[in-house]
Amino acid sequence: MPHLDENAIRTHPLCGPLDRMPAEYRGPRRLGRDGWLNFVQRLGRGEEIDLVRAATAGGRRILDVGGGTGELTRAVAAESGRCTTVEPHRDRVATLHLATEAEGAGVIEAFPGRAESLPFPDASFDVVFSTWVLPFVDDLQRSVREMARVCDLSDPGARILLIGGAPDNELINILNEVCAPIAGEPYDHHGFLLVTAAEILAEEGFRRFALQRTESALHFPEISLEERIDAACTVLVDFWYEGHPRAADMRSALRPAVRGHFERRPHAIGDQGTVLVARPGAPS
Ligand SMILES: C[S@@+](CC[C@H](N)C(=O)[O-])C[C@H]1O[C@@H](n2cnc3c(N)ncnc32)[C@H](O)[C@@H]1O
Repeated sequence: MPHLDENAIRTHPLCGPLDRMPAEYRGPRRLGRDGWLNFVQRLGRGEEIDLVRAATAGGRRILDVGGGTGELTRAVAAESGRCTTVEPHRDRVATLHLATEAEGAGVIEAFPGRAESLPFPDASFDVVFSTWVLPFVDDLQRSVREMARVCDLSDPGARILLIGGAPDNELINILNEVCAPIAGEPYDHHGFLLVTAAEILAEEGFRRFALQRTESALHFPEISLEERIDAACTVLVDFWYEGHPRAADMRSALRPAVRGHFERRPHAIGDQGTVLVARPGAPS
């Protein structure tokens, strides 16, 4: 597959919607503890796990930035023998340790820390990945520069992998259309995050890019349609707006959109992703 340069990333349909590209970062989204855990319990991401495992394979020193509950950290450690992760949320770091001991899934090193200031010397890793994290960082530019700093440009297998929402992400689109206006927030554009990351990575010497899609979805196996709508409205609002003063309004406003969605896709809401892989050097 030919590699893309950063200009091709900027206009690539997988980084869309291109006609809604914002001028600047909207600022971090806060992730509540319970909202995220309820979300994860319904998330089926088999294909995404396989993709990240394969895309990081061969790495000797692998870093997962913002490992969360560690689902991908563990999968990568199981595949490649070890994986290091940095995660700001204390509870999640603790959970990672427990899960590792229980499952014996390769060696995991978990450090408290933030993407903006990674606690490692320059060029400590040959593979760095960060999935569904960019919307949550305080400083997008610094975070991406840090990922480039700790990735060893001189290693022939060096790569940085990022995942954000694809333009047809059903979950993000419903939240953007219904809840963002109630919260008075701008459209949450994941393509912008990946385009910005590509521009920064290119400046740092990672100029060979590849893009692909990945499929995952939240599952709602409840038989009753009304139960499914209740569950989906709660999970979606708590994921992006846990504790928001207008969360109840959002749950009500979501009902028609979610009902319409379940008429087309009765038991799942898609969480489609765009995968960006950056490698050192100029595009071929
Ligand atoms: C949606 S979760 C994704 C978790 C994991 N990467 C995955 O794909 O399962 C976002 C994660 O980013 C973490 N996070 C938030 N701000 C961060 C920051 N500044 N640096 C690193 N991670 C951060 C959160 O604590 C959370 O675990």
